[in-house]
Amino acid sequence: MPSFPAYRPRRLRRTHALRRLIRETWLEPSQFVLPLFVRSGTGVRQPIESMPGVAQTSVDELLRDAHEAVSLGIGGVLLFGIPDKKDAIGSDAWNDDAPVQQAIRALKREVPGLVVITDVCLCEYTDHGHCGVIRDGDVDNDATLELLARESVSHARAGADIIAPSDMMDGRVRAIRAALDNEGFLNTAILSYAAKYAGPFYGPFREAAESTPQFGDRRSYQMDAGNSDEALREVLLDIEEGADMVMVKPAGPFLDIIHRVKTETGYPVAAYQVSGEFAMIQAAAERGWIDRERVMMESLLGIRRAGADVIVTYFAREAAKAL
Ligand code: PBG
Repeated sequence: MPSFPAYRPRRLRRTHALRRLIRETWLEPSQFVLPLFVRSGTGVRQPIESMPGVAQTSVDELLRDAHEAVSLGIGGVLLFGIPDKKDAIGSDAWNDDAPVQQAIRALKREVPGLVVITDVCLCEYTDHGHCGVIRDGDVDNDATLELLARESVSHARAGADIIAPSDMMDGRVRAIRAALDNEGFLNTAILSYAAKYAGPFYGPFREAAESTPQFGDRRSYQMDAGNSDEALREVLLDIEEGADMVMVKPAGPFLDIIHRVKTETGYPVAAYQVSGEFAMIQAAAERGWIDRERVMMESLLGIRRAGADVIVTYFAREAAKAL
């Protein structure tokens, strides 16, 4: 009889080589997607105060970031547009010459190795900052679908690989899929922000995207943080409507949702480590309270371990460098 205990878990933790041999979860730069904010002009690089290292840039500067991303092995970029003008229906969203559409064309021409994903939503484009058109003080779901479809087709026409609707209107995946197919974009994929929770973690982003709602909040369309079964219903609905990939957002506070979505659907799952999650790590590190690189890597590893195939993160470049 072996002396107690027969199994000693510490045996395989003794050296780095042993730990590496039996590690279950790995991070790869190819799994990262870097969000980029694009606006008009040339030579523009406007830092976002609450997101150190993140900036709004013009297309030429965005190309530099994209070249760096591809040389680091990063999988893709997620584009957000800051329009020159906003109006009640967000009409610049489907303007073929707006900054995002220009950026897509430039990326496909100059950085073909990068997957180009575009955020489809109206909140950056509407003067009221909501994700759809307003009627009687509320976001009108069905009137918004047609506009999201137009925006998606405009992105596909510019050459986007993947369209990522983040508005949380009911029926948008079906409407977008139908519009893309009608226009012949059968191979443009849809990554739906399927389980997107309303909450406080998007604050810094709204500064970056200039998309703070001018009245009310997003709780009548984004999800309630207490709900898990509802996330599954949202995800299954989007899959039924034609989503190729689904997203959970935010990531860190919703690891259980990532895990459920992955195990219960088997679909490619993306998780968005959002601006607030990023800002918290940056702020604590600035104060010297945590080790920035190690906390960054562990936050990403946790998201992977929960089941995410793809991680959208403002740390993409830094994390790829650390790997
Ligand atoms: C647009 C959108 C938001 C984010 C991604 N797409 C903001 C929101 O819903 O208010 C948040 C991203 C982040 O916080 O990093 N609807």
